[in-house]
Amino acid sequence: MKLLVTGGAGYIGGVVAAQLVEAGHEVTVLDDLSTGHADAVPPGARFVEATITEAADVLPGTDAVFHFAAKSLVGESVERPGLYWAHNLGGTLALLDSMRAAGVGRIVFSSTAATYGEPERHPILETDPTRPTNPYGASKLAVDTALTAFARLYGLAAVSLRYFNVAGAYTAADGRTYRERHTVETHLIPNVLAVARRLRESVGVFGTDYPTPDGTCVRDYIHVADLARAHLLALDACSEGEHRIYNLGNGTGFSVTEVLSVCREVTGHEIPAVVRERRPGDPAVLVASSEKIQRDLGWKPERASIREIVADAWAALPR
Ligand SMILES: NC(=O)c1ccc[n+]([C@@H]2O[C@H](COP(=O)([O-])OP(=O)(O)OC[C@H]3O[C@@H](n4cnc5c(N)ncnc54)[C@H](O)[C@@H]3O)[C@@H](O)[C@H]2O)c1
Repeated sequence: MKLLVTGGAGYIGGVVAAQLVEAGHEVTVLDDLSTGHADAVPPGARFVEATITEAADVLPGTDAVFHFAAKSLVGESVERPGLYWAHNLGGTLALLDSMRAAGVGRIVFSSTAATYGEPERHPILETDPTRPTNPYGASKLAVDTALTAFARLYGLAAVSLRYFNVAGAYTAADGRTYRERHTVETHLIPNVLAVARRLRESVGVFGTDYPTPDGTCVRDYIHVADLARAHLLALDACSEGEHRIYNLGNGTGFSVTEVLSVCREVTGHEIPAVVRERRPGDPAVLVASSEKIQRDLGWKPERASIREIVADAWAALPR
């Protein structure tokens, strides 16, 4: 199939683009390189440096779009909400309009656990209330809402995948490795590993008084290779006039303290940690139920161990 991957020079988009190329698809990556890296685009994919509002030229003849391009820093979204509404919602609406004009009827969208906000129970089901606590989550939820409307009104075939905490690295069949390389890194595992690489002196632990077994936040970590595989299944599951929403996580939570101790074991470094204030809007626990995608699409995590996730991320880092 002829596929367009927006944000395919980013961490997750690069892995999905690589898996799509490996599966024999004809892939075009559209990315403005605002947070991505041109060398994350897999060999075998065409690269177009442009923003999502300029997708009209590349869409004709495309069978489906994988839409990763977004602004995704929670703190920045609180400080600059307009930027998030304009990019994430406005940009996606422009993309959807260009898709309609070009007759492209399928989309797989990167949604997020942040659409749920502070959950009432665990694990989180897709039917649970969506009450985002920041503009990032709200803008992603607004796109989910728009996709439902576009499916009903225009027959769009859409799947939203609500990722929990994506981590780890992917090594493709040709030996190339795809890893997390955010310039502004807010994710725990790369920040902890940066200490092990002596790029930072210590890692901050934001809050130790949460109602969790050890007082630190609990999150559901999913290996980027497992997550990417779900996108290929979602492509096949896209059905005209239907918008499906699936959570993507492992269904098991690990606390910040537990992740730190696994990182210490894997790297053999001491990794000093400094306790800091809670970050506003950080839920105590975020764990997915991925039963729906397992049941409907037959997806199963193959690398669910936190040790394997950390070990793959560590092995992919330059030293
Ligand atoms: N990493 C996670 O744990 C996580 C969790 C939940 C959801 N997500 C979502 O997954 C997607 C990918 O995340 P990531 O971690 O790979 O981020 P990333 O920053 O590595 O990748 C995003 C890519 O999109 C590009 N981009 C941004 N705005 C663009 C625009 N307007 N036009 C064209 N290209 C643009 C960037 O240059 C970058 O290459 C995002 O939509 C993010 O919100 C990520």
